[in-house]
Amino acid sequence: MHPHAPATPKYPHILHGGDYNPEQWLSYPDVLDEDIRLMTLAGINCVSLGIFSWADLEPEKDHFNFEWLDGIIDKLYKNDIHVILATPSGSRPHWLADEFPEVLRVGETGQRNIYGHRHNHCYTSPAYRERVRLIDTKLAERYGHHPAVILWHISNEFGGECHCELCQQEFRRWLKEKYKTLDALNHAWWTHFWAHTYTSWEQIHSPTWIGETAVHGLDLDWKRFVTDQTIDFMKAEISAVKAIVPELPATANLMGIYAYGVDYFKLGRELDVVSWDSYPEWHLPGKNAEIARNESLSHDMMRSIKQRSFLLMECTPSTTNWRSISKLKKPGMHELSIVNALAHGADSAMYFQIRQSRGSAEKFHSAVISHAGTENTRVFREVSEVGRMLKKLSDKVYGSASPAEVAIIFDTETKWALDKCQGPRNEGLDYFGIIQKCYDYFWKNGINTDIVDCDSSFEKYRLVIAPMLYMFRGGIQEKLRSFTAGGGVLVTTAFTGVVNDTDLCFLGEASEEKLSDVLGLWVEETDSLYTGEYNSTRWNGQSYRLSEICEIVRPVTCETLAVYDSDFYKGSPALTVNSFGNGRAYRICSTPETDFLDCFFGELAEELGLERAMNCKVPEGVSITWRENGSERIVFIQNFGDSPAELILDREYRDIFTGKTYTGRLAVEGLSSIIAVG
Ligand code: GLA
Ligand code: ZN
Repeated sequence: MHPHAPATPKYPHILHGGDYNPEQWLSYPDVLDEDIRLMTLAGINCVSLGIFSWADLEPEKDHFNFEWLDGIIDKLYKNDIHVILATPSGSRPHWLADEFPEVLRVGETGQRNIYGHRHNHCYTSPAYRERVRLIDTKLAERYGHHPAVILWHISNEFGGECHCELCQQEFRRWLKEKYKTLDALNHAWWTHFWAHTYTSWEQIHSPTWIGETAVHGLDLDWKRFVTDQTIDFMKAEISAVKAIVPELPATANLMGIYAYGVDYFKLGRELDVVSWDSYPEWHLPGKNAEIARNESLSHDMMRSIKQRSFLLMECTPSTTNWRSISKLKKPGMHELSIVNALAHGADSAMYFQIRQSRGSAEKFHSAVISHAGTENTRVFREVSEVGRMLKKLSDKVYGSASPAEVAIIFDTETKWALDKCQGPRNEGLDYFGIIQKCYDYFWKNGINTDIVDCDSSFEKYRLVIAPMLYMFRGGIQEKLRSFTAGGGVLVTTAFTGVVNDTDLCFLGEASEEKLSDVLGLWVEETDSLYTGEYNSTRWNGQSYRLSEICEIVRPVTCETLAVYDSDFYKGSPALTVNSFGNGRAYRICSTPETDFLDCFFGELAEELGLERAMNCKVPEGVSITWRENGSERIVFIQNFGDSPAELILDREYRDIFTGKTYTGRLAVEGLSSIIAVG
């Protein structure tokens, strides 16, 4: 019995496949036949279909043409290839924009785009919503009950914003619902500043560089509105297809932690299963382990959104075409990056794309089937190898859980607010940087970690880390208070708990709003360091560099564990701890270097006895994580270095593929992995 209900109940197996675009090849029937042969050879059991097919499904308004797709889906199914069926709203046919110009997006300056590109549509436009509802319904009626179809793929990579008049009106309506009165809005946005007080709802306009950018509350609410409007659009699509096939689950492909225009936690919670498109920049010289850590953090976030396994919806079989320099994946890298996704909770390995397109913007993006159209390519062989691997893993891995005792808070709204906050350091308050640095210790030491947001529940964790959590929102103070009082350990870093949910600074000295009771302190001043300038602290007999910002704090009940070594605040606390209820809360008052965090979290992990994938020293560049399938623990050991790494095993492990047992010394080749049970 696996811990998670299957993401794809109609076909509960690890999915292997990718975006398939037969609409580009309808005049090449031989190619379409060859696709099936090659997909079968590569061990492909699933494709995402129809993502950009609208012009071929509805070539003219209300004239539908499904015959070609009928044939494709039947043929796929006959060959044991399942279908993740997309709604085609990510890109629209010409006729739609010609007849309903309102569907096209308007930019910040008020200028409407002309037809072109994809993702060029207004999420508010009633005309767009209606045409999308119609085509989605038709697709659901025709294919929703087809045995091949196992999941809905709603649109493609939701994102972007529109500043058209329809969106402005909707934004004002959203604000009225939230604030009820202009007085409340003016207070929340602090608009008496620079005489920006609104005296009518009609004066409110989305933030734009030709207009308002100084009102931070406006900016924040606009971003929230864009997220809500995107979710509303997505939910309308989900309802359209579920009205016909309620039991078929839906996903949408997200883009990891760095694509934060839409709040993915909020959007992802509305999906049955989260999926995402992952394109790490492997082989930057000497950086594979670092890239793997970035990548793993996104995987962990995607898994944490629904607290269950996710789908890797896209990755490239070898190279992208959209980076400034598009590098091939070296031999072994493809399999390793797929193992990394599985290791962090993926139940699929899907690619962009099955067959390389012949022309237009993505003709040089790699694919399972290249322009050569043959199985005799390195990439095809490596993909097929992955296909064989996934088949062997499926029974044990699909739907298994990734238990974690540690959570790191990444809150999209804090990121939005920090991007605009103007001071204390406009040259870089590296929010992602401090999150990654905290995460890295756990990655390097085989400790599973969740990436959560302010709306998550913290009850199941033993250690919660809130790096630079500038904005306290959604009652997080109370959740962190009861987490700590209940025996949890909370770690905060500099610039945490500065503003409320409309970006107004907390007032007063110590207060519960700022969590001063839990931390046992309040912050009096925040100094900024120039780039390349450092303060330092001695802790546990070692000196560590501090950068970016240094908070000068006023202890109330906390104990000082380390102090600043220089500047006029030399001797004031740089690291504090406060006992609170059955737990305790730390403040790291600056941005410390990685070595400090490694030692600090190392001590905590030891003391708390945090569960590790294996009780052994993890060599540099190696990652070890685990999943549990109800009866077994599956350990993923990955070496991102180029040369072999050696582990001294703490117990016996059994190779999941060969059944071979490992004890004592275990060598892991460079750019390779071992998956074992133990
Ligand atoms: C995204 C899109 C795909 C394709 C790939 C290329 O993830 O969803 O349609 O453009 O990028 O890397
Ligand atoms: Zn619009």
